[in-house]
Amino acid sequence: MKQGGSTDAKRRAGESAAETVEDGMVVGLGTGSTAAHAIRALGRAVDAGLDVRGIPTSFQSRQLAREEGIPLTSLEEATPDVAIDGADQFADGDLVKGGGAAHAREKVVDAAADRFLAVVDPTKEADVLDYPVPVEVLPDARTTVAERLRALGGTPALRAAERKDGPVVTDNGNLVLDCDFGAIPDPGGLGRDVASIPGVVEHGLFVGLVDEVHLGTDDGVDVFEP
Ligand code: A5P
Repeated sequence: MKQGGSTDAKRRAGESAAETVEDGMVVGLGTGSTAAHAIRALGRAVDAGLDVRGIPTSFQSRQLAREEGIPLTSLEEATPDVAIDGADQFADGDLVKGGGAAHAREKVVDAAADRFLAVVDPTKEADVLDYPVPVEVLPDARTTVAERLRALGGTPALRAAERKDGPVVTDNGNLVLDCDFGAIPDPGGLGRDVASIPGVVEHGLFVGLVDEVHLGTDDGVDVFEP
């Protein structure tokens, strides 16, 4: 499922977003290989004396933040000043996320932040979103949700685990249906329709949430508001 830009482009995007973090801030720590570059950069800044606290969006980002020595907090204790997170695809600032099955917690943290910075590379850019939308579902609702997704025009597929027989199980104990809708001209409308299906925990359409895009390329970073 996951597509990949160059490591340098991802690193530039992540480091550029991390540079915006100021002393005393609470930072939402996204999931995936691009957000990991931001977490490592923040770890180096903490080593150099920056006072920040992180709110992880997944088991993976929590582990990495711990390894990097970033003090952690939670949404119960603090509101993120900024969240830094990757995407599987972006168009006009709207995103498809969830390639790492972390989109439910990512959406909670990214939406709670005062500012959400998306860190991406050129392979993620599209004129119109058309990446299969990850839909996290309660395990018992897998077949009924799949039926409703098909009624919305989608083609859902249960995400299979690698190096484990059976499906991917999310950090929240749920399953993921990757649903191909083809081109998505109205991500907001589709997102509302998918969210209204009983048994859907969260979908990977992030609409109107991004404040700033940090687009890493092979020779620099473009920073812009969508
Ligand atoms: C995690 O579930 C995802 O939302 C990731 O943020 C997304 O898949 C981007 O990952 P990469 O930065 O590894 O491409």
